[in-house]
Amino acid sequence: MLETAFRTHACDDLTSKEVEKEVTLAGWVDRRRDHGGLIFIDLRDRFGITQIVTDPELSGGAHKIFENARPEWVLQISGKVRARPDGQTNKKMTTGEIEVLVSEVKILNEAETSPFEIAEEHDENEEVRMKFRYLDLRRKRMQRNLVLRHQVLQATRKFFYEKKFVEIETPILIKGTPEGAREYIVPSRVHPGKFYVLPQSPQQLKQLSMVAGFDRYMQIARCFRDEDQRGDRQPEFTQMDLEMSFVDAEDVMKINEEALLSIVKECRPDAKISAEKFPRFTFDEAMNRFGKDSPDIRIPLEIVDVSKECENCGFGIFADAVKNGGVVKVLRVQNGANFSRKEIDALEEAAKIYGAKGLAWIKISEKFEGVPAAKLGEDLTKKIAEKVGGEKGDILLFAADKWEVACESLGAVRIAAAEKLELLKDKENEFAFCWITDFPMFKKDEETGEIGAVHHPFTRPKKEDEELLNSNPLATKAEAYDIVLNGYEIGGGSVRIHESNLQKKIFDILKVSDEDAERRFGHILKAFTFGAPPHAGIAWGIDRFVMLLAGEPNIREVIAFPKTNRAEDLMLGAPDIVPKSQLEELEIKSTTKIGEQKDSRCE
Ligand code: AMO
Repeated sequence: MLETAFRTHACDDLTSKEVEKEVTLAGWVDRRRDHGGLIFIDLRDRFGITQIVTDPELSGGAHKIFENARPEWVLQISGKVRARPDGQTNKKMTTGEIEVLVSEVKILNEAETSPFEIAEEHDENEEVRMKFRYLDLRRKRMQRNLVLRHQVLQATRKFFYEKKFVEIETPILIKGTPEGAREYIVPSRVHPGKFYVLPQSPQQLKQLSMVAGFDRYMQIARCFRDEDQRGDRQPEFTQMDLEMSFVDAEDVMKINEEALLSIVKECRPDAKISAEKFPRFTFDEAMNRFGKDSPDIRIPLEIVDVSKECENCGFGIFADAVKNGGVVKVLRVQNGANFSRKEIDALEEAAKIYGAKGLAWIKISEKFEGVPAAKLGEDLTKKIAEKVGGEKGDILLFAADKWEVACESLGAVRIAAAEKLELLKDKENEFAFCWITDFPMFKKDEETGEIGAVHHPFTRPKKEDEELLNSNPLATKAEAYDIVLNGYEIGGGSVRIHESNLQKKIFDILKVSDEDAERRFGHILKAFTFGAPPHAGIAWGIDRFVMLLAGEPNIREVIAFPKTNRAEDLMLGAPDIVPKSQLEELEIKSTTKIGEQKDSRCE
């Protein structure tokens, strides 16, 4: 099937069945071993590796070429398949029982020495990998990751097509759609002074597709967000974007659960799925129990609230936290009593990232050790230890603060303790999905006091909370849901508002003036007046999903040509300055002076 003008077989095709056959292969020199007489080359293509051998007695001029050949040269070789001598077979390789004895070699291309070894990975500088990404991508791990990504995309499309979804391509040059990040903008030449905005997601367009009557939409969509980069964030990323009409949250969650299960089973048949029925937690429950709204529920540690017990207790820090409207929370860590001072300090550092002022602890050994134990007294310490199920050998870690700070800091401690104790060591091949529901509709920016949408402004409030929009909007819960896998938010969605008057009310709460709403969202408000069906949807972060399926720590490893954490493409050299004439055409004047450049390009 893979026979072409250059080859009869691919490099993983030949087995003992082909012994004595004349074949031609083409590929790269992976490794070369000169055994004095015989020279061996592992010839590599996308599909595998075949051992090629030249014998000075039998291979003529080919042997001379093999003497000079270097890694990454591109060769075409012809010869006869023969069985490897006894003791030299390799059962792990498809082609491990044979080798090809060369009669003819053609150099298709020589190669300069690569900046890093392709056949073997070492701890290379990531910048070099990014700069020479086309070489990095030749490696087995990256080839495997990108093929897995391809399989996930194919399985996703297949699943949704079978469920009668239509893939609609939405435009990239659009008007802003709010998802909470800064936008990338593109100047218009035809309309000087005006800009297109790159979509943070196709949110409004998929809702408009529902107004257009498509009922079930999906798209593998490219999204753009100018935000600070992290291991699970790229400025340009891919979503599986979905919208459905005449559905409620339950319908969307059900079909997504089915889709995710079927894709994982197809693309990672070896993996263990923790629960086929994904557990559900409300936002409050997830924060209270796991300290995170995207919890890794494979970690067998949970946070417990002991605010009641600590009311008016003898330990000022705990009592004051409760008196000031905050909480006291405990994380019990089994076998943590032998954490050293240094290890506890490291956990405290994790807590401080989320605003905790410190991390109090009690070790349970023959007696209770630690400052809180002394202050709380034997009886109360015992009561708290019993409430959290503490036993000899455990450590109890406390956060006393505002609810969010206490939850989030213990959430970080939970992850750090799990890493320290290697609690996930046997669960690397396990996939634990869960849903998080009942998010707040709005959040207040502590610094500016401004109210913003937690999801986005098109999300519907829960029916029973609609009244709260008038009296106490910050207490309103949204009809929104996130899908979480192994501690990462891999998707988020909601039931939408489909009536212009409710949408206008949300804009009022968000302090979007009528004029501003009309300018920014007039098109969707207008569309809602023409018979918009009730609708709901979701989007998965494909990069994050594939990263987890591939067992990689960073989404860059599953994106062919990613950006660095400074949003640069080191291979292409983007972003870059552009010719002055191009800016003039756009009527744009840059005020940035870039180095000493004095060419025809812009400053
Ligand atoms: P949201 O903003 O939650 O929702 O995005 C959906 C999912 O996209 C992924 N994601 C990212 N992945 C990589 N890099 C990024 N910078 C990045 N930002 C987000 C996450 C996230 O869960 N329009 C709504 C969806 C909807 O309501 O239907 C939206 O975009 O995995």
